[in-house]
Amino acid sequence: MSVKLVKKGDSYFPSAEFKKKAWLKDASVYKESPLKFWEKQAKKLFWFKKWRKVFSHQPPYFKWFVNGKTNITSSIFEENALGFSRIKNKVALIWEPESLEEKPRIITYYELFKKVNRFANALKKMGVKKGDKVGIYLPMIPEAMIAMLACARIGAIHAVVFSAFSPTALKLRLQDTQTKVLITADGYFRKGKVINLKQNADKGIKGTNVKKIVVVERAKNQISMKKNRDYFWHDLTEKESDFCQPAIMDAEDLLFILYTSGSTGRPKGTVQACGGYAVQAYATAKYIFDLKEDDIFWSTADVGWVTGHTYSCYGPLLNGTTFIIFEGLPSWPQPDRWAQTIEKYGATIFYTAPTAIRMFIKTLGSLSRYKFDSLRIISSVGEPIDDSSWNWFFKEVGKGKCSLVDTWWQTETGGIIMTSLPGIGPFKPCFTGLPFPGVKVDILNDKGKSLPPDKEGNLVILPPFNPGLLRGVYKNPKKYAQTYWSQFGPKVYFTSDTAYKDKKGLIRIVGRSDDVIKVAGHRLTTGELEDAINQLKNITESAVIGIPDKIKGEAPIAFIISHAKKSLTALQAEVSAQVRKEIGPIASLKNVYLVADLPKTRSGKIMRRILRKLFSGEDLGDLSTLANAESVEAIRKIIKTQK
Ligand code: WT7
Repeated sequence: MSVKLVKKGDSYFPSAEFKKKAWLKDASVYKESPLKFWEKQAKKLFWFKKWRKVFSHQPPYFKWFVNGKTNITSSIFEENALGFSRIKNKVALIWEPESLEEKPRIITYYELFKKVNRFANALKKMGVKKGDKVGIYLPMIPEAMIAMLACARIGAIHAVVFSAFSPTALKLRLQDTQTKVLITADGYFRKGKVINLKQNADKGIKGTNVKKIVVVERAKNQISMKKNRDYFWHDLTEKESDFCQPAIMDAEDLLFILYTSGSTGRPKGTVQACGGYAVQAYATAKYIFDLKEDDIFWSTADVGWVTGHTYSCYGPLLNGTTFIIFEGLPSWPQPDRWAQTIEKYGATIFYTAPTAIRMFIKTLGSLSRYKFDSLRIISSVGEPIDDSSWNWFFKEVGKGKCSLVDTWWQTETGGIIMTSLPGIGPFKPCFTGLPFPGVKVDILNDKGKSLPPDKEGNLVILPPFNPGLLRGVYKNPKKYAQTYWSQFGPKVYFTSDTAYKDKKGLIRIVGRSDDVIKVAGHRLTTGELEDAINQLKNITESAVIGIPDKIKGEAPIAFIISHAKKSLTALQAEVSAQVRKEIGPIASLKNVYLVADLPKTRSGKIMRRILRKLFSGEDLGDLSTLANAESVEAIRKIIKTQK
């Protein structure tokens, strides 16, 4: 892109040159009726049998493309929207390994198709059937996508677990799904070192139903393989045929389960349906990233998170796009590894997170040495993007020539549901934009009344929601109803985000209204960290809060009460190690404070809000409802003095 964006008032708009070629350039698309809009999108995908009805609603449950029969892999391969003969020899994915010395892997659509089919056949031979759950605990290597697609091919439900999650976190998820087959790797690279993933998998399957493990050979590290339980991927796939019949899936059959943190300790398995999810992934990827035949799309998200599912796998593939997946960290071995990678492959679209942007700013500052000529769209997701990060991203990476689309969504929504569209705009710093065409949202006060511009309130999604919205919490209908459909009745989806809109209706996200904290864009709850800490014999009680962090956005800190005869440093080390062991390094505590008492209400509820205010310097407000108001001053002193 060579033309700068146009600035009007506080917002930017796409240039006439960009608009000319964009898929969506006319704001009239916002006026289309949601059902018509989504139905039109669905028609571009493959169906064995067409749906009888676009949407049906039995609150709090709903269906999309009722009675339609499909398979997402057929929409990707045999019946791609671009036509399979056109994409057959096109590159589907480019895998960039962590080490600069290692060769990238380049896989065409046809090669990917064959790999998916071979592994699908191997899974079948292992006894995996339609409706079975398969665990995937893999790093960012092509086999992660191949495994997901192979499951989808045969109608098995994949449940990906982030590879940096601890064995305990893996176990919790495997127990919940009662998975019999787990796919993992020997290891992977992190900052030049090998992480022994197989060892973590071996620990994680203890006490679960896992009977078979498939191991991808990636790092060639020493691992132990148990006879009649562990099999190498290459041995299983070597002799398999290149074709496997796609399973005929009902639009509402489950495609995958993905765990996310909710407002309580235990992770929730959000479930996605085959039909609606595919339509959402296809249409949002196409229009928000304006995907064209010659684009090279790079989303930095790991496959362990929903962004990795929708935009590092299904979305680009459904559009016949070439995309990059990267094993390593964007800042390793040099802080500009990500910038080198954009230039190396001529990426045209770059999708990343505010936490990464803040790190780029800190480590790199000005980027005048990079031209980023290939880029035309840059995009952000995961947490609110602050003004200076927005402007840096726009100027230093986008060079004032790229549409900057901030995309709001959640694991639960399956795909993006709010953003500015690259060919329409406006791009306004800190504002995520308008609901995607076909989506209705509102901002309500606590009584459920719609709020005027500039008033902060609860962000909700209104019927017919979006095709990719979760269909339930795995094996927990109560949690589904309570978490999402109880605040404003069963017809209003509660996002747990606080937001407001400006006079033009552009939405700005303020943050979460529950106990979810966003650490480097990853979603954690204070409850799950506390659960881990409270398991320690030496700890009587704990409270975790998120405090602002320059790079990570938020970082967790813990307050502990202990009666053990142990030094402060010993306790701090024990608590920190426990969190890393139970959850993983992403949850690492920034600090641990030893206190005598925690502020509580008379009913015994810990007031984390007050602890947060001690850090933000905000007025503590009325403390008279506390049972132990004196604890607050004592904690204030400890925060000041204790390291
Ligand atoms: C929460 C969902 C969806 C992909 C990654 C996160 C926050 C997400 C934005 C954004 C402000 C954002 C919200 C949301 N969030 N995107 N563009 N601006 N906040 O998925 O881990 O399920 O977290 O992330 O608070 O509720 P997730």
